[in-house]
Amino acid sequence: MDRGAVGEQVIMKTKEQTPSSERQAAKRIDELRRLLLEHDYKYYVLDQPEITDYQYDQLFQELKGLEEAHPEYLTTDSPTQRVGGVPLSQFDKAPHRSPMLSLQNSYSPEDILAFDERVRKFLKFNGDVEYLCEPKLDGLAIELIYENGELIQALTRGDGEVGEVVTSNIRTLRSVPLKIKGSHWPPRLEVRGEVLMLKEDFRQLNEQQQESGATTFANPRNAAAGTIRQLDPKVVAQRPLRMFCYSPGTREGLEFESQMKFMEQLKSWGFSTVGHLSRQVSNAQEAVAYYHELEGLRHSLPFEIDGMVLKVNSWKLQEALGNIARSPRWANAAKFKPEQALTRIKDIVVQVGRTGALTPVAIMEPVQVGGVKVTHATLHNEQEIQRKDVRVGDWVLVHRAGDVIPEIIEVVLDRRPKDSQVFQMPYSCPACGSASVQVEGEVIRRCVNPLCPAMSKESLKHFASRRAMNIDKLGDKIIEALFEAKLVQRFSDLYKLKVEDLLSLERQGPKSAQNIISSIAKSQNPKLDRFIYALGIRFVGDQTARSLARHFAALDPLMSATQEELEKIEDIGPKVAQSITQAFGQKELVEEIHRLLELGVKPQSPPSTKKEGGMPLQGLSFVVTGTLPMGREEVHELIASLGGKTSSSVSRKTSYLLAGESAGSKLEKAQELKIKILNWEDFQNLLKGA
Ligand code: IVH
Repeated sequence: MDRGAVGEQVIMKTKEQTPSSERQAAKRIDELRRLLLEHDYKYYVLDQPEITDYQYDQLFQELKGLEEAHPEYLTTDSPTQRVGGVPLSQFDKAPHRSPMLSLQNSYSPEDILAFDERVRKFLKFNGDVEYLCEPKLDGLAIELIYENGELIQALTRGDGEVGEVVTSNIRTLRSVPLKIKGSHWPPRLEVRGEVLMLKEDFRQLNEQQQESGATTFANPRNAAAGTIRQLDPKVVAQRPLRMFCYSPGTREGLEFESQMKFMEQLKSWGFSTVGHLSRQVSNAQEAVAYYHELEGLRHSLPFEIDGMVLKVNSWKLQEALGNIARSPRWANAAKFKPEQALTRIKDIVVQVGRTGALTPVAIMEPVQVGGVKVTHATLHNEQEIQRKDVRVGDWVLVHRAGDVIPEIIEVVLDRRPKDSQVFQMPYSCPACGSASVQVEGEVIRRCVNPLCPAMSKESLKHFASRRAMNIDKLGDKIIEALFEAKLVQRFSDLYKLKVEDLLSLERQGPKSAQNIISSIAKSQNPKLDRFIYALGIRFVGDQTARSLARHFAALDPLMSATQEELEKIEDIGPKVAQSITQAFGQKELVEEIHRLLELGVKPQSPPSTKKEGGMPLQGLSFVVTGTLPMGREEVHELIASLGGKTSSSVSRKTSYLLAGESAGSKLEKAQELKIKILNWEDFQNLLKGA
């Protein structure tokens, strides 16, 4: 999660300034709560974050500290009180005041026109009907109930009449307001929407699940649904769920001209919506055009959508249309063509991951799914493969989940070959032959041989990967070839490679060999967090690596940190702390790190904010332009983390223009206004001096 550029409203206070008197504490608590809620709103509803995650955390921690010191000021709507309550043994049930209906589906643009025909016929109306077109979100429906502006209950859809009470879980979602913003709301407000997981968050969660030996999820929808069913709200709080709202429950006390107006109101009440992806159209033809537009956008959206929902815009007409059976007559779901395909399983192989996890993978006849050729699908683990009973020779329906991972939906049993055999997970590691183990409580079987070649190869791939050392020209295939040829066995070997070594590989031309060597050389100054992540310590994903880098700011103190010290860091529990101390307790890893450093790898410490007296760029505002050695976003983040502000246009208020190569009009404007201009080196010096 990245909160992007810095904003005006960050108020940072250091320990020394912490108010001591009761009155001041109460005032600061109130101020912090308002700030945090406002930043949640900017992030989740307006999609215009103004502070970094780090700054948010600091405000949050300050509030938590003050509330602990002054428990008398604690209120249930405080942002710190999202995670509360004890794990449940089961969910209670509660009725919906107004039933949660479903939508009639249609599968083609012609169906949209037919739906419009039915609407006009029912209304005995010949003219055009106005619609609001919204994306059909692929998550699970939830109803939020507010009384006197406060969230008092959240229900799942259940059977439409009675849902499960999932209030404690839903409270942990920061996109769900605990209190409605503003003042003009009915005494009881019911708002419905979809809870989902962003594709990127899903990918990261699955990676973490894999690291810890837990089950991975087949798709973002399952991950969201599985999370909401968790009985412990603390688990839910750690999973990145979002909620987007799109309809009222009971309409008592609500008077709106149109769905569009209602959506606008939801947004100003503080609910997150997909208003930016919705469009008001004046007739069904325009709706069809938007359906095609949305389908084109589908893959570039941060979450999964499976169609467009078409709603008669006028609430008056909606009322006139009413319901038919269990669906409203005024709405229709125009589904996109399912991105599924039929193919045959040629083989099931077992792959050994970096952490030794054995994962069954189906090798399929190549097939196009949603415009991409698919040949492999993960079968996750033994349990999953048994549940789906996938066998070699089976015909299966495949789908791409989260737009990346191919998933086997089901086996077409009618077409199963007569002699097919149930798949048996091997008990020994397919790469090194040593016995695998399954730790109690984990679903994953692992190879625990530290010398297993498959694990070494995978660790190398991880080391070079984009979010680790980012050696972009060093693909998986080349790593494998280098490993097999014994040219590279461990990370440090990469930095000893020469063009000649690469040329000794089959089908390796001089130009690409040179590119690979340059790309390795370019990776020598990674950010500290990327370096920590690249080491591939179990349970240390990129988030944890970032916390570690931020906390220790250098390798040495991290390597000598004790279990207790590590556990004091936010987000690091005993399991992770133990894994870190264990890793750095290994002579092999420590020696390998020293070899890397000797070969010129130099992890870059994050800019320190604590040691040098808080926020060195506090009060300064920057405009960044032109091409710089670091991405624009990263520079913004860096400035923000040091307390500076960034803006996209030069004005008299700008303190500095940071200009890279090919800077254009902003440079001219800055010269005109006599704003100080920094090149990259000046900027570095400013940071050092700061
Ligand atoms: S309006 C009468 N709007 O689709 C139902 N639903 O098949 C009114 N959904 O249960 C729901 N995106 O879970 C509505 N923009 C959207 C939606 C949406 C997804 C889901 C929702 C609902 C299901 C109906």
